[in-house]
Amino acid sequence: MNEPVQDAIRNRRSIREFTGEPVAADLLRRIVTAGIWAPSGLNNQPWRFVIVRDREIREQLARQTTSAPVILAAPALIVVYLDTRVMYNAVKDHQSAGACMQNMLLTAEELGLGAVWLGQILQNKDQVNAILQLENTYDLMAVLALGHPLHRNQRSQRKPLADFILKEIGGNQE
Ligand SMILES: Cc1cc2nc3c(=O)[nH]c(=O)nc-3n(C[C@H](O)[C@H](O)[C@H](O)COP(=O)(O)O)c2cc1C
Repeated sequence: MNEPVQDAIRNRRSIREFTGEPVAADLLRRIVTAGIWAPSGLNNQPWRFVIVRDREIREQLARQTTSAPVILAAPALIVVYLDTRVMYNAVKDHQSAGACMQNMLLTAEELGLGAVWLGQILQNKDQVNAILQLENTYDLMAVLALGHPLHRNQRSQRKPLADFILKEIGGNQE
């Protein structure tokens, strides 16, 4: 059976090493477009993005995180924010940002790009805003580092499904 969504979900890996090849602007726009088609509470679409390809800015951002080698290797970054002025519920707006991120990761996979969700940089979110010249009404959620994968040797594991299902209530338990 042709299951492109399942294939992207299962084959996607966090990619942290990239060739030096730039990522075309139209591909970045397709990825952000997938992000904005994520669901959000009340359809408030609280996400905002800064697309960075400039080397000097990437070097400044790299200094804000232990994931510096990834940021330096990635030819493109999508910095993801919530606009606190349009937020209505902290938990739900953060969940919307996560859905947006996953849409972008899966689209990068579909386009043959590699990507990784960088969160450690949040410890320096004020400095990130200063580098990007954004006021603090924009709350940093993550940096998506993107590029053409240097290799696809990454492996990842998940615990067995049964570890996560607390109960099954009802149904015929076949
Ligand atoms: C909220 C969040 C924060 C993350 N932060 C980082 C990070 O700062 N640096 C990094 O290299 N990977 C980061 N990752 C990627 C995870 O390490 C990765 O998704 C996990 O190890 C599973 O591997 P996989 O994505 O290949 O399945 C983050 C992922 C998430 C969802």
